[in-house]
Amino acid sequence: MRRKVLVIGIGAGNPDHMTVEAVNALNRAAAFFIPDKGAEKRDLSALRREICERFIRSPGYRMVDFDTPDRAKPPSFYSESVAAWRAAVEAVYERLLTEELGEDEWGAFLVWGDPSLYDGTLRILDSIRARGVIALEVEVIPGISSVQALAARHRVALNGIGGSVTITTARRLAEGLPQGSDNVVVMLDGGAAFKNVAEDVDIHWGAYVGTADEILVSGRLRDVADEIERLRAAARARKGWIMDTYMLTRRDASDED
Ligand SMILES: C[S@@+](CC[C@H](N)C(=O)[O-])C[C@H]1O[C@@H](n2cnc3c(N)ncnc32)[C@H](O)[C@@H]1O
Repeated sequence: MRRKVLVIGIGAGNPDHMTVEAVNALNRAAAFFIPDKGAEKRDLSALRREICERFIRSPGYRMVDFDTPDRAKPPSFYSESVAAWRAAVEAVYERLLTEELGEDEWGAFLVWGDPSLYDGTLRILDSIRARGVIALEVEVIPGISSVQALAARHRVALNGIGGSVTITTARRLAEGLPQGSDNVVVMLDGGAAFKNVAEDVDIHWGAYVGTADEILVSGRLRDVADEIERLRAAARARKGWIMDTYMLTRRDASDED
């Protein structure tokens, strides 16, 4: 059994982020697999549908909604529960590809931002291929990531002159500001991890970047941290979920530029 899958980066929330390559890929797919559960996924799946309606030239494509199992909380790295959760997610994807797609059709996963950045789709498809039950042909179309969108909206470069950039998670930031790069981009912040950064840094923060709800704040972290914390709590209460990303820049580094 052979299945063909497009993994399409759709940008970080603004349909105008769609590239010409992504639009062409949309038009090759017969079935779109749409995760659909919880307030956040419902809003994000609405955007995926809007993108399909706006960019697909001929009707006749199928939308296939699916739920993924909830991740056990709190997740602990390398635990059996995480392995079991991954196996359950892979089983859902394998069933979708087996039962919802014909041999000659392309199926598509519309991945938020870019598929290479903090998204599990490519790893899941790799695991399914490794199991060997179905042969998979996978094509990946890059998208505008939230990191690029954030930098553009703030009109800043990600790196200092000749410097490096670290992209990391709030969980890792709790271990301290990474050494070796002056600019640190933080994603997946369930709380307000920037509050615990002791160093003197500037912050460029953005929530729902590229969407109608976009909020941007920048400044010296010690001056704007409370404002950001208040804004993100209010936004989360209003919408039921929040997606924010920020870049922290060591102040002595930005002074050198
Ligand atoms: C599961 S990751 C997906 C990242 C995505 N693949 C990308 O390329 O941006 C989700 C995280 O991306 C960031 N994110 C995604 N869209 C965003 C947006 N429109 N505004 C701000 N942050 C966003 C947030 O840090 C969020 O916690």
